[in-house]
Amino acid sequence: MHPSATAHPPTPAPTPALVMMKLIKKLVLTIVCCLLLSAGTKPNEPTLKEAFAGKFLIGAAITISQVLGVDASAAEIVKKQFNAIVPENCMKSIYLQPKEGVFHFDEADKFVAFGEINNLWITGHCLIWHSQTPAWFFRDKNGNDVSREVLIERMRNHIKTVVSRYKGRIKGWDVVNEAITDDGSWRQSKFYKIIGEDFIPLAFQFAHEADPDAELYYNDYSTAIAAKCKSIVNLVKAIRGKNLRIDAVGMQGHLSMDFPAIADFERSLLAFSASGVKVMITELDLTVLPLPQHFAGADVSAKFDFKNKLNPYSNGLPKDIELKQQKRYVAFFKLFLKHQDKISRVTLWGVTDNNSWRNNWPISGRTDYALLFDRNFQPKPIVNKIIQLTKQSSASPPTMHGAQR
Ligand code: G3I
Repeated sequence: MHPSATAHPPTPAPTPALVMMKLIKKLVLTIVCCLLLSAGTKPNEPTLKEAFAGKFLIGAAITISQVLGVDASAAEIVKKQFNAIVPENCMKSIYLQPKEGVFHFDEADKFVAFGEINNLWITGHCLIWHSQTPAWFFRDKNGNDVSREVLIERMRNHIKTVVSRYKGRIKGWDVVNEAITDDGSWRQSKFYKIIGEDFIPLAFQFAHEADPDAELYYNDYSTAIAAKCKSIVNLVKAIRGKNLRIDAVGMQGHLSMDFPAIADFERSLLAFSASGVKVMITELDLTVLPLPQHFAGADVSAKFDFKNKLNPYSNGLPKDIELKQQKRYVAFFKLFLKHQDKISRVTLWGVTDNNSWRNNWPISGRTDYALLFDRNFQPKPIVNKIIQLTKQSSASPPTMHGAQR
């Protein structure tokens, strides 16, 4: 007999209740661990907005369903993870002023209230854009183009009515959106054709008159293209040369797996910063889907036919593509952190993959995976990777337009 067998009395057999308690404890622990792992987060990790505090604002474009609480799970992500919002659609002129002099502010009011209640930096998007402007804006009663004077007056009235309504509440405005094409020439929009290039400084002037404290931005896509970048820099200089306010250039971050090259993106970022304004990464997302031909950017008018072979991940994203996407997201966030002293805000163009515009552009009805949160409202592993990056990067000194505002 083993000596210890005589030294200690035998342990009493555990009662069924005790066994059950232990089992439940084990089960709860396992479930919590699984949930945390599947959500891509680790216990005690900061949220995105906590991780980027002192560096730049981190925001998301939101929909009216999120504002109204219909898409409540996505709204919760916004409140928890982000500290800035921009309306994906409800402030475009086609929605705000569908008929001359008839303004619909219902949704925009609710969007702004959502931002205020949740203590978020609110950006207005967008005052003047060639797209989503109602047709009446450019036409007289006979259906002909209006005169330069009439169009300027319509611009003034639209901007004044919208900006003054949210004076002091909306902190910054995308004043002019996408006025320059990829080759660096002026976009031949109705605004340009009727008014000439003056429509841009005029828009900045009207916005400033309506709210002198609001920050004012020029926002465009594919800004990494050298010719486009050069024209935007010239535009910024022209606006500043007229002593008009412009605070930042928004580099829309509609990325794909091979466009743009990071070095080109960085070159443009530095050029905008050197022109005397802040840089914002607006509209960030990263598509994993094939494009129909050599095609990039975010021209909303582009449309191609649906084909199954152009929708390869409708049943899930293969691991190798997921890792490739993570790598590219990480590389871009490394760049943003490297230049955090020049960047005031990074904004994702949407919250979850469920309702990213990427599912419908430039081909309708595809399954894309362009954002940081998945279709089950969970952070992807990339969220944690980005948060880890912030720990390696040193905080920049406080700046006028940094996240300290
Ligand atoms: O709300 C209507 C709905 O009533 C209707 O049944 C449905 C049928 O098509 O359309 C709905 O409107 C759509 C709207 O999004 C809201 O979902 C429009 O058709 C659709 O054109 C619109 O697309 C938006 C696009 O801008 C044009 O305004 C995208 O959601 C939005 O992500 C996209 O955002 C732009 C930025 O403003 C500027 N930079 C490029 C970026 C991506 O294109």
